[in-house]
Amino acid sequence: MTATTCSLPIPELAEQFLLRRDMTFLNHGSFGACPQPVFAVYQQWQRTLEAQPVEFLGRRLSDLLYRARSELAAFVGAAAEDVVFVPNVTYALNIVARSLDLQPGDEVLGITHEYGAIERTWRYVCLQRGATYRNQPVELPVTTSDEIIDQIWQGVTPRTRVMLISHITSPTAIVMPVAEVCRRARAAGILTVIDGAHAPGQIDLNLHELAPDFYAGNCHKWLCAPKGAGFLYVRSEHQVKLEPLVVSWGWQPPTPLQGSFLAYPEGRPLQAYYEWMGTDDPSAFLTVPAAIEFQRRHNWSAMRLACHELLRTASQHILALSDIPPLTPDDPGWWVQMRALPLPPCDPTLVQSRLWREWRIEVPCFTWEGRPLIRVSIQVYNTPADVERLLTGLQAVLSTS
Ligand SMILES: Cc1ncc(COP(=O)(O)O)c(C=O)c1O
Repeated sequence: MTATTCSLPIPELAEQFLLRRDMTFLNHGSFGACPQPVFAVYQQWQRTLEAQPVEFLGRRLSDLLYRARSELAAFVGAAAEDVVFVPNVTYALNIVARSLDLQPGDEVLGITHEYGAIERTWRYVCLQRGATYRNQPVELPVTTSDEIIDQIWQGVTPRTRVMLISHITSPTAIVMPVAEVCRRARAAGILTVIDGAHAPGQIDLNLHELAPDFYAGNCHKWLCAPKGAGFLYVRSEHQVKLEPLVVSWGWQPPTPLQGSFLAYPEGRPLQAYYEWMGTDDPSAFLTVPAAIEFQRRHNWSAMRLACHELLRTASQHILALSDIPPLTPDDPGWWVQMRALPLPPCDPTLVQSRLWREWRIEVPCFTWEGRPLIRVSIQVYNTPADVERLLTGLQAVLSTS
């Protein structure tokens, strides 16, 4: 199958997902969804653990994690020693935010498209340290990535120490020009923290080329791994600065020569701190290679394109419900399998709850920067019939709200 010949629906693929059949599910973006063959691998790991916990956690785990991490690292274009499994992006970016030695007066620059929990993390840390979190508006619509970069850079001051940017934004679903952001920030001596919650599985990643200082990703969204599979990439020179959220066996008292209390002894791998934080179930991490393999086996770049085309059709119809222009151009460089679209004036919370209650359609509708938006996700289990149902339901709800 080639990228140009594939189109949805692909019933044998759709049937592999565990989602209920009595609903129209157009919200892969929030928590992802895991196909049965991948979920079976996950459960197999759990059974193996329970069959001999000491053998599994005590003797085999470190090697198993190393192998899983190596496959993930190759998939995202990084060295295995620069990547560590964590449960999710929120966890990963808490590690980063709490570890950097922000000083009073320092500034962290985020943009108005950041995910709420991550923005809160940085605001919290800034408040504790006497630093400032600046929420830089990036107004829409935009038609070129230069417009985005220019708007971001209007928020840069001589005190900017850290820049926080989502690779694919949560409320607006835009693929941000992060390679250029990282390049310019590095030249200006600003650290880059990239929130890649929506990237793995939705866009091809090469962290080596992207060259961020810190990058956090979720495998449980678009890579379709089980929940609780995230990762943190840390550029090697920063690894010594990181402080674990949970101190466990990985920490060692500093020798008198090292002096520092934080003491990440030179040469001690990043994973020592983060891959054992007390007894837990590592099955989701160990299942990541199966999720990568599932997508490879199913020619995922062609699938993504098919999803994108179906989403383009949906977009055209949704845009026709109002005269409001789209947030970005109609191009896979700007959005892939998830797109935020303007709704005509309405109460989006009510629209979302009515779509679910009356139509059994799961799709997020919300207000972002004063605009009502709907964010539609298309994954391989979606069909043109799902899109038709959304359009019918949406028109009915909008005309009576
Ligand atoms: C851009 C972005 N960052 C971070 C997160 C948080 O992901 P998690 O809850 O898995 O930590 C999300 C969740 O949707 C998100 O959209």
